Amino acid sequence: NLPSRVKIVDVGPRDGLQNEKQPVPAAVKIELVHRLQAAGLKEIEVTSYVSPKWVPQMADNHAVMQGVRRQPGVRYSVLTPNLKGFEAALADKPDEIVVFGAASEAFSQKNINCSIAESIERFAPVVQAAKAAGIAVRGAMSCTVGCPYEGDVPPSRVDYLAGLMKGIGVEHVGVADTIGVGTPKKVQAAIEATLKHFHIDQVSGHFHDTYGQAVANTLAALEMGVWHHDTSVAGLGGCPYAKGATGNVATEDVVYLLHGMGIETGIDLDALIDAGTYISEQLGRPTNSRVARALLAK
Ligand code: HMG
Ligand code: MG
Repeated sequence: NLPSRVKIVDVGPRDGLQNEKQPVPAAVKIELVHRLQAAGLKEIEVTSYVSPKWVPQMADNHAVMQGVRRQPGVRYSVLTPNLKGFEAALADKPDEIVVFGAASEAFSQKNINCSIAESIERFAPVVQAAKAAGIAVRGAMSCTVGCPYEGDVPPSRVDYLAGLMKGIGVEHVGVADTIGVGTPKKVQAAIEATLKHFHIDQVSGHFHDTYGQAVANTLAALEMGVWHHDTSVAGLGGCPYAKGATGNVATEDVVYLLHGMGIETGIDLDALIDAGTYISEQLGRPTNSRVARALLAK
């Protein structure tokens, strides 16, 4: 069932940087996007249009989107939790917007300040407006295996959320292990629940690496045929509303895994490692990519 090619969305500029305590200048975020596209990334999650009180690091969304020198064939996506965010994003012409819900009620409340049902009511007009504007729509589903507030999350909750997302016209969903507690069988069960509503071509994996399981979980998803994966250069990141959660699986590590199995990505690993080195130096900390560490030590 392994796919012959995989599409990677680098979420580093958004998921990777949103939790940084020190302000990261817009110019650095823009340079990171440029380096990612130079490395062959065709999908980049650039920023989010959320409340600057909630997530101060993303307050420069407009400057970042305006500053990116767009490359033809690259899709630039942004997070929009409500119509206010969508309208702000529209001016910056994203190719894709992401509405983000959660499979657990507690996380929905902490992250976006409303229940799952209310979140869907807020997303519905965003999805309609995006489609009317010719913008693609992705839905992120947080806490599909575990929640920092509720513990284990059963697949039935994922089934429920995926059905709601489908019902409002979301075209593609990401199965997120927000706090990285998942192991392969649990992640497969969450994907199985999602596949009741979405075709395999419309499902992404989004695995955080807090417990060191994200590469294994990525392989488990690949074995089911999932060929879209969200990853973060240098393994940057963490969610501000999931205490202690670390970054997404490192893009470098997933590219190494895929190339090692003969699966195409269109990404140049050396150029990607350069992008990871750049942002790690800017943040003043070592990369979280094991592959980058190993290759740089050679
Ligand atoms: P709220 O307080 O319920 O919203 O927040 P509200 O409509 O009552 O408005 C309150 C204030 O926020 C008002 O401003 C609004 O104008 C403003 P005030 O009058 O107080 O000055 N506001 C906004 N400002 C800018 N952009 C907007 C916006 N909407 C309202 N779009 C809201 C609701 C969703 C806005 C808030 O809870 C929020 O911003 N949360 C942040 C969520 C977030 O960014 N989380 C991290 C990303 S999700 C993630 O990382 C998970 C993912 O990676 C998958 C995974 O790993 O699980 C995707
Ligand atoms: Mg995430």
